[in-house]
Amino acid sequence: MSVCEFKPGLEGIPAAESSISCVDGQQGILEYRGIRIEELAQKSTFLETSYLLIWGKLPTKEELAEFVHEVQYHRRIKYRIRDMMKSFPESGHPMDALQASAAALGLFYSLRELDNPIYVRDSVVRLLATIPTMVAAFQLMRKGNDPVRPRDDLDYSANFLYMLHEREPDPLAARIFDVCLMLHAEHTMNASTFSARVTASTLTDPYAVVASAVGTLGGPLHGGANEEVIGMLEEIGSVENVRPYLESRLEKKAKIMGFGHRVYKVKDPRATILQNLAEQLFEKFGHDKYYDIAVEMERVVAEKLSHKGIYPNVDFYSGLVYRKLGIPTDLFTPIFAIARVAGWLAHWKEQLVQNRIFRPTQVYNGLHDVPYTAIEER
Ligand code: ACO
Repeated sequence: MSVCEFKPGLEGIPAAESSISCVDGQQGILEYRGIRIEELAQKSTFLETSYLLIWGKLPTKEELAEFVHEVQYHRRIKYRIRDMMKSFPESGHPMDALQASAAALGLFYSLRELDNPIYVRDSVVRLLATIPTMVAAFQLMRKGNDPVRPRDDLDYSANFLYMLHEREPDPLAARIFDVCLMLHAEHTMNASTFSARVTASTLTDPYAVVASAVGTLGGPLHGGANEEVIGMLEEIGSVENVRPYLESRLEKKAKIMGFGHRVYKVKDPRATILQNLAEQLFEKFGHDKYYDIAVEMERVVAEKLSHKGIYPNVDFYSGLVYRKLGIPTDLFTPIFAIARVAGWLAHWKEQLVQNRIFRPTQVYNGLHDVPYTAIEER
């Protein structure tokens, strides 16, 4: 490849060799370590899937029990982290709070032993365990409440919903949330994972790796799209308004949030699973008119944009599920981060195996030999 072949967004350029996940964007297939996402969503749990992603194999019963126990044991956050979070402005975005808190965690574990498997395991456990606690703590503290202590008798997802809502969740709600985490845990070389790998390649600590990836995930073209989807559904307001809304947006060449993907040219398989989960939730907890609007949107967008391969992505139905679970809109992306930590850590570990620092090139299109102009002559 010639160095002059600049590809905006690095489209189509491999940034790593990886055995963590695989997407077939033409057929709508997603696999984690070779296992189809549909099968994991049906049979696995978020922590088991995290183990699979990070250590490359499904754990035995004993390995899983030990891992779950370790994560449970490390859920509490340090008082000093909690106090630091308390000082954050309540109006700040929870993704910024999470990024700062994940980075701050590194201050407590500054001894960096990247080639020590115990250090690697402890870091993985600590990050998976504390990120949900930080998200829930910021949510409560910005409302003026004290954070809720994690409960050891609840599993990963049930405990997060408990810390967030200060009451034990319905088992179906907790299971559906756990499936959502599995669906968001990993997705090949997306922007935040690339960011994680670039940061990892400098041999910094995993807290910096995660903080850097959280910062990248927050943008509206990546994880932030699910927040925008809810805003858009609310703005549309009724099924009748879907077509005029979409026509006016497309006329202005505006993007429709929750649609389109660099890799998928068919409906994202995670969107299909999420749509099904949304239906289960509505069946148990009551219908939501925004679901009807979403279904109509999918129909009209297919009519107008399927020739470009634009279909719902993972963000389109996830917001509806989270909304029904009583989660505030600006926590949707931090929840995406809770899940994606598993994928980021798997990539961190993989990057370290045959590390070479990322140092791409650029196509310089500026000037040369420009004389310096004295300030009074400018
Ligand atoms: N609505 C309308 N048109 C779209 C959309 C959309 N959501 N997405 C792509 N298109 C059109 C573009 O206008 C372009 O058309 P053109 O060729 O006539 O100019 C064509 O499809 C290709 O679009 P690009 O923006 O070049 O595609 P790219 O691969 O760079 O972008 C992205 C992918 C960022 C996901 C894009 O589809 C988008 O902005 N979608 C909305 C935001 C969103 O939902 N993001 C979440 C993605 S999933 C995730 O990150 C977890």
